[in-house]
Amino acid sequence: MPKTTTTPRKKADQYNDPSHNYLKYWDGREYEHAAEEIAIRKLLRGRHFNTAVDVGGGYGRLCLLLEKYADDVTLAEPSQQQLDIAKDFLKDHPEVHRKLLQADDLKFPDGSIDLLTMIRVMHHLPDPSAEFAEISRVLSTNGYAIIEVANYLHMRNRLKHLARREHMPVKPVDIRSAANKRDDEIPFVNHNPHTVMRQLEHAGLETVANLSVSNLRSTQLKKILPRGVMLGAERALQRPLASVYFGPSVFFLVRKIQTS
Ligand SMILES: C[S@@+](CC[C@H](N)C(=O)[O-])C[C@H]1O[C@@H](n2cnc3c(N)ncnc32)[C@H](O)[C@@H]1O
Repeated sequence: MPKTTTTPRKKADQYNDPSHNYLKYWDGREYEHAAEEIAIRKLLRGRHFNTAVDVGGGYGRLCLLLEKYADDVTLAEPSQQQLDIAKDFLKDHPEVHRKLLQADDLKFPDGSIDLLTMIRVMHHLPDPSAEFAEISRVLSTNGYAIIEVANYLHMRNRLKHLARREHMPVKPVDIRSAANKRDDEIPFVNHNPHTVMRQLEHAGLETVANLSVSNLRSTQLKKILPRGVMLGAERALQRPLASVYFGPSVFFLVRKIQTS
């Protein structure tokens, strides 16, 4: 499939800012981290791959899990600062390659990647069409991708819209605070998963499964429920709640549409 762009067009500058500590962001978010690992395990159960790439993988938070599912893992990340943190975070795993790459220009040969993950990146991509085309280009014939989507249709938003008698938006919604709504700030959007599925299909990627993730994300619940209970419920709910896009995060498992 031809590439749609040759020059990376979005910058991930916030992740190069020394005052923005993405590693620290995860302090107190052990439930969310574990919920995402549960989702990846569910989607990949019984599968093993030669090559895996975590696109926009930050400092490599999920690379160790990916090593359980693939022989060769690459962290592909556009922020040099994140890659530098990854050097330390992954110091006991020198086999994980680290590459300075952006999702719309992955530089891997056509059809060379068997598993690609892109987690918590879609909220920076209001229009992911170039990135999806690039993912489709690099995926091998029997390859899979897991794309995580910050979900605008989650239950709380739906109740809010219902109370105001407003339709749910089809297009991505900018969720930046007024102070951050500057052109030089990285975009921050939530997506309508139905729109994302259409965009994936347009890029030649079919959705084979989806999960509703971080269903119990709530500061209050985290205070009163033991983490084991939260995660037991999360494990039980990810599939049943998938069809109603209940949680704030949706994990799509996609593969290349076979043309012959
Ligand atoms: C919220 S962090 C998520 C990091 C990692 N995936 C995780 O879940 O821990 C967002 C990451 O997306 C990266 N990013 C932003 N824009 C990107 C783009 N256009 N292509 C690839 N990565 C991008 C940032 O550099 C940052 O590392």
